[in-house]
Amino acid sequence: ALHPHEPKEGFSSSGVLGTYDQAQLQRGYKVYREVCAACHSMKLISFRNLGEKDGPFYDPKYKNPNENPVVKQIASEFEVPTIDSETGDVITRKATTSDAFPSPFANPEAAAASNGGAVPPDLSVITKARHGGASYVYSLLTGYKAPPAGLKIAEGQHYNPYFPGDLSSAWSGDHKHVPAGGVLAMAPPLSAGQVTFDDGRESTLSNQAADVAAFLEWAGEPKAILRKKTGVAVLAYLLLFFGLTYASYRMVWRGKH
Ligand code: HEM
Repeated sequence: ALHPHEPKEGFSSSGVLGTYDQAQLQRGYKVYREVCAACHSMKLISFRNLGEKDGPFYDPKYKNPNENPVVKQIASEFEVPTIDSETGDVITRKATTSDAFPSPFANPEAAAASNGGAVPPDLSVITKARHGGASYVYSLLTGYKAPPAGLKIAEGQHYNPYFPGDLSSAWSGDHKHVPAGGVLAMAPPLSAGQVTFDDGRESTLSNQAADVAAFLEWAGEPKAILRKKTGVAVLAYLLLFFGLTYASYRMVWRGKH
């Protein structure tokens, strides 16, 4: 597979001092909601996480994210499965802020049946599970290409040079020049103009992919910013401690050598 790359403007979260760009997380959430959630769950993320510190809909007015009206509204737009206590049947109810992003399919068999045999993976930690993280997600979403002549693609499969795979058995050309990448059951989910951004950002394929990749990076590590800030504070403390230790060493040994 080709090496994943970042969008032109990079990710705001990169580097030791990087932070999530909240406007971008909100746009990325919209892409997830309107497109990806039709197939992919995020079972490790609860609606209330959206309203926690550094999250897409964090609002300092609501220290308790369960009281954040935007978060409550978002949760109420989802249905989650539950058991009818009288009949024992599986029914659905409106989600609450403590529910997780559900799968749109009743079970993995139903998911596979609707997707040409492949189950859409849960996206909670996809940026941790795949080499390249957010850059991989961005590259995969923007990287679909027509298959090169000589590559046999099965019905319902799509060529993507960033998807890990081995295409040698599907390749009838020179065996030294097997195309990079693989085939997957997910058709290109995004195209220009598909998601309208409320803040006026242009709805290009690249912008949509960058924003949803940033959102999924947040989902994979919601505490990344806290972790970085803690790291900086620990280093500052160690530096101060080193200074004090050295000064006391100088004082104790003054004039003794
Ligand atoms: C696989 C992301 C929309 C169906 C994947 C993978 C990612 C991803 C990262 C995993 C690739 C890997 O295993 O490395 C997204 C994002 C979406 C989106 C960010 C929205 C922008 C959709 C939609 C569908 C879908 C709308 C269904 C119509 C699938 C399926 C797979 C998959 C079936 C498994 C493919 C295979 O292993 O052959 N998606 N997806 N995805 N997605 Fe999506």
